[in-house]
Amino acid sequence: MAWLKIVVGAGVLAVLIILNVAWSLYKKRHIFEFAKNFNGFRFYPIFGNYWQLKNIGYSDYFDAVRVVAKEVGLPFNFWYGHSYLHVTDDAEAIKVILDHPDCLDKSSSYNILKVLFEDCLLVYKADEWKVRRKFFSKSFNQPILNSYVHYFYKNSNVLVDVLHNDYEDLFSVFGRYTFDTFCDIIVGKSYNLQTDPSNRLIDEMDAMQKYMAEISVATVTFGFPLHLKALLTNGWSALSLINKLKKLSSSMTDLRRKELQKYPVVGSQISFLDAMISRGNLFHPSIISKELLIFLVAATDTTGNSLTFTFTLLGMHPEIQQKVYEEVITEIGRDAPIETDHLPKLKYTERVISESLRLFPPVFIVGRHINKDIQIGDKIFPKGTNVLVYTFALHRNSKYWPNPKKFDPDRFLPEEIAKRPPSCYIPFSEGPRNCIGKLYAMMSMKVVVANVIRNFRISSKYRSVDEMEMRGLITIRTKNDIDCHFSPRN
Ligand code: HEM
Repeated sequence: MAWLKIVVGAGVLAVLIILNVAWSLYKKRHIFEFAKNFNGFRFYPIFGNYWQLKNIGYSDYFDAVRVVAKEVGLPFNFWYGHSYLHVTDDAEAIKVILDHPDCLDKSSSYNILKVLFEDCLLVYKADEWKVRRKFFSKSFNQPILNSYVHYFYKNSNVLVDVLHNDYEDLFSVFGRYTFDTFCDIIVGKSYNLQTDPSNRLIDEMDAMQKYMAEISVATVTFGFPLHLKALLTNGWSALSLINKLKKLSSSMTDLRRKELQKYPVVGSQISFLDAMISRGNLFHPSIISKELLIFLVAATDTTGNSLTFTFTLLGMHPEIQQKVYEEVITEIGRDAPIETDHLPKLKYTERVISESLRLFPPVFIVGRHINKDIQIGDKIFPKGTNVLVYTFALHRNSKYWPNPKKFDPDRFLPEEIAKRPPSCYIPFSEGPRNCIGKLYAMMSMKVVVANVIRNFRISSKYRSVDEMEMRGLITIRTKNDIDCHFSPRN
């Protein structure tokens, strides 16, 4: 009779699974209706578009989005198991979504970040996020940021020394600058990664992204066994790296707490870390170090990679490089320290950085979850849709950017900006949940570009941006070492 029990048990389990799948599909009937308006692969229950993606082949997350977009055309539907993703490069839809109060939650594609980083500003659900964001925003006002320029300059001098010598990988060089600067400012201690090539932390942060990318692409189906396989292979490596970073962030928090006990800071113009520590009743120490970690991660690769692309583009365009150089020499001079007042005067330099962020937006895709039906144009985007704003494609969409692959900083002259829809340029995302470090990043990059360009001539062998093959999960960089060289000016 034992076999009968097994057969009945298996039968009950099968019926439960079928009912569960059927219920999950029934709940999504409005989404299936909506999806008919767009391109995409055929949907398969349980697997979504897993098999089609596997068949067309891709090397990582960046590549997966790119190949599907090429195969089916944008905007497109993608089924991650039973989770619906709408991938778009349409500025009108993007504006509505990023500004909308019912689209503040992150899309399901951030689940991997939630697992690894747990709760933090980047992934909080809307209600929690609003309270925290209000608190942190106070530490990113202009007077506070102005007080950071001295640290950008100090660390950019170390960077100039590094560029005079041999180095392994340019992304790592600029990542080390952003890491050191951030710690110098926020933690009150420099970790001197710039001068210690044996410290591999920046490379490890990149490796962690690679593991996470592999996990998230491997889990395109919600079938648990496949999750398990991905977790066992890359998950373990990702977890041990994240634990190392968590320990580091916790030791930074302790260090800063002790420093503040000895030398308390007064007033309201203080960094977000000092603000959290001084409001210990609101923030448990473990929360403080989680928040610090996400800021550190969010600041490092983004700014570092963007600087790498900016210098490479300048190396490809000597005439534009010359104009930046002349502006820097006129406004600051050959050797004078770079100060806060100089930065607004570097107008051409700012256009160059903006154009570099257009061609190579470090965060190439951002995701939102729609919590209520919303009308966009003549369509209702249904509740439950995950929208992936494909910034990389938006920034190269010829509908908004004539000759999109041309590096042309004058696209950012005020009269040219006025000709475009507002949301076709969003390197820092848009709306209430945009990048909190946008001004910090722009100021830091301006100081570095100015200081490096007055010390070096830059060259690169590339003739077109297409020669740079990209990879990425959260931030993008080139698959191979980037070709960009710095020769000292006399
Ligand atoms: C070129 C440099 C940078 C770029 C391109 C960039 C881009 C972005 C983007 C696109 C987002 C939105 C992500 C999403 O919706 O999923 C974001 C969020 C964020 N960024 Fe940045 N970022 C940069 C530098 C920085 C810096 C320097 C900091 C810190 C000092 C920072 C801290 C953050 C944080 C904490 C968030 C989450 C904000 C929230 O959800 O309220 N970023 N960044």
